[in-house]
Amino acid sequence: MTFEKHILCIGAGYVGGPTMAMIAFKCPRYKVTVVDINPGRIAEWNSDHLPIYEPGLDEIVRATRGKNLFFSTDIEKGIRESEIIFVSVNTPTKTFGAGAGMAADLQYWDKTARQIRTYATSNKIIVEKSTLPVKTAQAMKRILTSEANGIRFDVLSNPEFLAEGTAVRDLEKPDRVLIGSTQTPNGLRARDVLVEIYANWVSKDRIITSNIWSSELSKLVANAFLAQRVSSINSISALCEKADADIEEVARAVGMDSRVGGRFLNASVGFGGSCFKKDILNLVYLCRYYDLKEVADYWEGVVKINDYQKDRFLLKILDALFNTLADKRICLFGFAFKADTGDTRESPAIFVARQLIEEKARVVITDPKALKNAMKDMEGVAGDIAYVEDPYVACEGCTAIAVMTEWRTYAALDYERIYRTMAKPAFIFDGRNILDHRKLFEIGFNVFPIGKPSLTHF
Ligand code: UDX
Ligand code: ADP
Repeated sequence: MTFEKHILCIGAGYVGGPTMAMIAFKCPRYKVTVVDINPGRIAEWNSDHLPIYEPGLDEIVRATRGKNLFFSTDIEKGIRESEIIFVSVNTPTKTFGAGAGMAADLQYWDKTARQIRTYATSNKIIVEKSTLPVKTAQAMKRILTSEANGIRFDVLSNPEFLAEGTAVRDLEKPDRVLIGSTQTPNGLRARDVLVEIYANWVSKDRIITSNIWSSELSKLVANAFLAQRVSSINSISALCEKADADIEEVARAVGMDSRVGGRFLNASVGFGGSCFKKDILNLVYLCRYYDLKEVADYWEGVVKINDYQKDRFLLKILDALFNTLADKRICLFGFAFKADTGDTRESPAIFVARQLIEEKARVVITDPKALKNAMKDMEGVAGDIAYVEDPYVACEGCTAIAVMTEWRTYAALDYERIYRTMAKPAFIFDGRNILDHRKLFEIGFNVFPIGKPSLTHF
C-alpha cells in the first residue's frame, strides 16, 4: 500500500506514543512510525504490554499497529523516509550546571536536532511536541540549517495539552490544537500541512494558529494556570482546617461563578506529574533571565505552596500519631500522581513515603497500576518498605492509611473489614477527599481529610 504521507515521531514516551497512535487511528492513509533510542521501550510498544497504562490506548494501538503504525529503533531510516517529524523526547529539569533545578535539560532534544540534520536527505517539517522553553524552535532551526546541504527545514511548535489518564479522550476531542509557525510563506505552508493532518478529526475552529513563540509560551502558561488553581485551593484548604470551614463547600461556591468555573478545584495532598513543576520552573527561569523578578516570584509561589501542602500533610500525620512514627506501619493508598495512570513522576507519594521512612515508620505501598514505578522511585531508600497489590492485605496491622491517589476503587472498599485488621487507634488521612469521612468515623477511624475539620474519637 502506498501512503499519502510519512510521519515520524522521535521519542516513544507518554506524549509521542499516544499522540501517534491517535494520528494513525484517524488517518489510515498516513504511515506513522515512532522511534526511540531505548530498544526496551520499543519492544514493549510492539508487545501486548504497552509501556504506559492509559485507558483506551490498547484498543487504538491494536487497531493500527502493523498496518499504518510502526514502532522501531531505526532512527536513521525513519528520518530519511518521512516528510514530517514530530519531536517528543524528554526535556526534564536540569540537574547540573547553570539553571540547575530550574531550566530545561535540552540535551536529548539537541541530540535529536543533530541526528535529523545528519540523516535527512530531503526537506522536512519538524514539529516540536516536547514542552520546551520559549525560543527553542529558533535554536532548532539554527542547528538544522548550520550545514548548508540544500535541505529546507521548517520548524513548527505544536504543544501537547493531553492529560494522563484521559490522553485518548483528550487526543480525540481536544479543547484546542495549537500550531505556532514563523509568519514566512514557507512557515505558513508548513503550518497548513499540519493543520490538514489534525483536520482529519478535529474541527477547524478548534485548530488555532499563532506565531511560534506565543505557541511555546502558551504551553508553559496553560500548565502554570492549571497548577495555580490547585495551589490556590490547596492554600485555602490550610485555612479551612483552622477555621472549621469545608474546602469542598468553598470550592463549590467559588466554582459556580461561571467566570471561575468548577473544574480543577479539588484540594489535595499536592499536584504531581511530569509537567506542572517543570513548566512553572521553566517560566520562572525565563522571567529571571529577562530580569522580571516580581513575575518570577509570583509564579514560583505556586510551587512553594505545593511543597508546603506536601509538608503539611506529613506533619499532620506526625502530629496525629502522637509525634512519633517509629515502627508504626503506615499504608499509602496509591502511588501514582493521579488516578488512571501508572505514572509516578513528581508524585506527592514519593515525598511522603521518603519522609515517613525518615521518621522510621514502616511503609506499605499499594497501587493498582504504579507499583513497578514506585519500586524504582524508592530504590536506594534504606528502610522498611513493602509493596502489596491487594489493599486489604496492605493495611493489615497498619496504624494509618494515607490516601495519596484518587483511584475510585479506594472509595468502594469495605472499611469495616479493613478496620478490624488494623492496629488501634486507627487513622485515615485522606489526601484526596474521596472517602466517606462520617462513615469512617462511625466505624471507629480517626479521620483527617484535606481542608475540613478532622473527626477524632479523642
Ligand atoms: C497536565 C495538564 O493538565 C495537561 O494539559 C498537560 O498537557 C500536561 O500536564 P497531567 O500532569 O497529566 O496534565 O495531569 P493533571 O490532570 O493536570 O493533574 C496534575 C496534578 O494536579 C495531579 O497530581 C492531580 O492529582 C493534581 N490535581 C488536579 C489536583 O490536586 N486537584 C485538581 O483539582 C486537579
Ligand atoms: P514525555 O512524557 O515528554 O513523552 P518520556 O520520558 O515519557 O517523555 O518519553 C521521552 C522518550 O524519548 C523516551 O522514551 C526516551 O528514550 C526518548 N528519547 C530521548 N532522546 C532520544 C533520542 N535522541 N532519540 C530517540 N528517542 C529519544
